[in-house]
Amino acid sequence: MEQIPREFIQQLLERVEIVDLIDARVPLRKKSGNNYFACCPFHNEKSASFSVSQNKQFYHCFGCGAHGNAIDFLMNHEHLTFPETIESLAKLTGMEIPREKKSAHKSISHQSLYDLLTQITQFYQTQLRQSPIAIQYLKKRGISGEIAKEFCLGYAPPGWDNIRQTFGNATTLQPLLDCGMLIKKEEGGYYDRFRERIMFPIHDKRGRIIGFGGRILETGEPKYLNSPETPVFQKGHELYGLYYALRANRQLTRVIIVEGYMDVIALFQQGITYAVATMGTATTANHLQRLFRHTSEIIFCFDGDQAGRTAGWRALQQVFPLMRDGIQVRFLFLPDGEDPDSLIRKESKEQFEQRIQQAVSLSHFFFQALANQTDLTHMDGRARYVKLANDFIHQLPDSFFKKMMQEELSKKAGIHLDSLQPRAHTKTLNPVLTKAKPPSPLRLAMMLLVQYPELAQCYHEPLPQLELKGFDLFCELFNLAKQHRLTTGSILEHWRGREEEKLIVKLAQLEHMIPQGGVENEFLGALKQLNKLAQTLIIERLLAKASQQELSSEEKSHLNQLISTKIV
Ligand code: GTP
Ligand code: MN
Repeated sequence: MEQIPREFIQQLLERVEIVDLIDARVPLRKKSGNNYFACCPFHNEKSASFSVSQNKQFYHCFGCGAHGNAIDFLMNHEHLTFPETIESLAKLTGMEIPREKKSAHKSISHQSLYDLLTQITQFYQTQLRQSPIAIQYLKKRGISGEIAKEFCLGYAPPGWDNIRQTFGNATTLQPLLDCGMLIKKEEGGYYDRFRERIMFPIHDKRGRIIGFGGRILETGEPKYLNSPETPVFQKGHELYGLYYALRANRQLTRVIIVEGYMDVIALFQQGITYAVATMGTATTANHLQRLFRHTSEIIFCFDGDQAGRTAGWRALQQVFPLMRDGIQVRFLFLPDGEDPDSLIRKESKEQFEQRIQQAVSLSHFFFQALANQTDLTHMDGRARYVKLANDFIHQLPDSFFKKMMQEELSKKAGIHLDSLQPRAHTKTLNPVLTKAKPPSPLRLAMMLLVQYPELAQCYHEPLPQLELKGFDLFCELFNLAKQHRLTTGSILEHWRGREEEKLIVKLAQLEHMIPQGGVENEFLGALKQLNKLAQTLIIERLLAKASQQELSSEEKSHLNQLISTKIV
């Protein structure tokens, strides 16, 4: 992957005004001080809980917890990847992204692959129009001419040499190999990967063609042939149909994951425009993470047979660690022998959507599948059930959903909740909600510094030396804020992708009751506490040493000095 220098990203953030950026997309109204409000664009609401701080260059929704800097906003609102967001912001501010020579080459060659694949798609489309048997096949499968056109369906004609003949020259041979359209023969020479197949171009989210799936016309092996993994096509990331689903509706209320190309297309033709499919592989956690950036509800659709149930269980294992609050996952098992393509031809759109409505919840499927794996009529079977379930539930991120699953298990197994969770009652509550106990001075200082980085300028002493968890992070933050002009938004950027990112984000969002005028005093007060703590620790250490052995004269005078200047 090409690297955009971090320094450039920070400069970019300095140029972008988050208030203008958001206001152009979600009209803001000014309310208090430097804060602006709107109804949150990331969840449905009637009152305005979405707040944008000009000082902090940071947004935060009190309703759904969405938050971040200008980059996060654009990424989430426009569904862009990180590099795409940087490109878009760079364009907006008229800045040029500095790139290394090597990566410039790489991005050019990516572009040439996209271009080639687009031309090949057009070639296959032309071939389709000229092939009565291919047209006949699509007709037989009920695909309208309109939909075939919309999904750019095509036909790879018979023959081993069409692509090389039509597109191969000295400069395109390597790209044709790179994007998987040609295969090298062992004895030298090349041949076409796809022959006599209906061609389904695969678009990435932005609509660029990145590969193909090809279906054999009648019977034969393999039924479907897909492009191999290439620099522009990664099967573990891409979802067939996502581009079309997003084009039909930018804000997807739900997405249904089906098994095949034909399922996506048949559903789309009947007006169900939110289906996607993986390409001959199982759904990965990466697929799901990408989908959750566009929707809060995913419905897995499987055959009703045993193979479908097994696939469902595999999908459940992938999705479990991703189950934060606010997202929903359900499972739809179709009648035996049917797939969405065959069903939607027999049933109306409404009937199929009714099935979607009735899809079972994740928790329902989970407990049912576990019960089927164990013999609940015996005690050791029940014990196994509880253990299996409990191990799974522990994988869930801390959330209300996790709590509910634990309660459900305790109800089902007739076991007290406490015996299910030896580490009970830790970390399950949202830290913003647990502000009853006063924060430690370190946490307070860190929170203030994240929210008001300019505070670093009003403390002039050297920082104390402390062996405290999190203190190194504080020092790094302090020194950074001392040397650069930062905002909360740019601090977040500095820690993006790092281990401590979560903590920084949490601190950025903590609500405190300190009035604007008192912030500096609170900060200096917290630092005083930290200095005092450091001093006390050294005094204690020296006194402990003195009780064992005589201190050196240096140590004695150090101790005296510490005691006489002791901070109270
Ligand atoms: P139709 O018979 O055209 O309706 O396809 P289907 O989608 O009903 O078939 P199936 O359930 O067999 O396949 C589902 C998906 O699995 C397809 O869309 C392909 O992505 C993939 N697939 C099916 N057969 C093959 C194969 O032989 N090789 C590979 N790599 N993938 C396949
Ligand atoms: Mn089918």
